[in-house]
Amino acid sequence: MVQEVNPKDEHATLPAGAAKTSDSVGMTEPATAGSNEDWRKEFPYPWDEDDVVTRRDTLRFLLAGSGAMFVATGILAILGHLPSGPNVQAVAIAREGELAENAWRVFNFPDQYAQGILINLPGKGLVAYSDVCTHLSCAVEYRGDGKMRCPCHEGLFDAATGSVLAGPPTRPLPLIQLAIKDHVIYAVREVAR
Ligand code: FES
Repeated sequence: MVQEVNPKDEHATLPAGAAKTSDSVGMTEPATAGSNEDWRKEFPYPWDEDDVVTRRDTLRFLLAGSGAMFVATGILAILGHLPSGPNVQAVAIAREGELAENAWRVFNFPDQYAQGILINLPGKGLVAYSDVCTHLSCAVEYRGDGKMRCPCHEGLFDAATGSVLAGPPTRPLPLIQLAIKDHVIYAVREVAR
């Protein structure tokens, strides 16, 4: 049977004098406790420090990796690349500067069977949400006063956050993430909340 040996234990129990030829087995005096430590003095190795350095290096590697990814993401955003990945679908919905403050429009997203609402909110800029009320799915409208209203049962939502302000809805409107490339505004992803 093969037995696994810890390198530390193996070296700790193998004295320098124990290296024998086959014909000397049984003829050598048993090694003393002092000779067990001789090899450590001749070949010092910081086993414990080795563990610490390995963990520290791993942490450094992880930090450097996440930092690089953060910088790369920022560079991509500056260059105007549209995001990609699961659940991402870039749909052009307006041009930059097209909506005056407090103006709004409804757009199809992610296809013709669902709509979002895009609002140019004073002090915040462009925001977009699914326009499907989270109560019973009526289409919400922007009132021009920082609030979105559902005409069916007077549900009221905060246009800055999509949160419920009044009425029967209990959940906020799903957020629609926006991206801008070449002065065109894209809806790219719906974020359920
Ligand atoms: S469907 Fe919007 S409040 Fe009822």
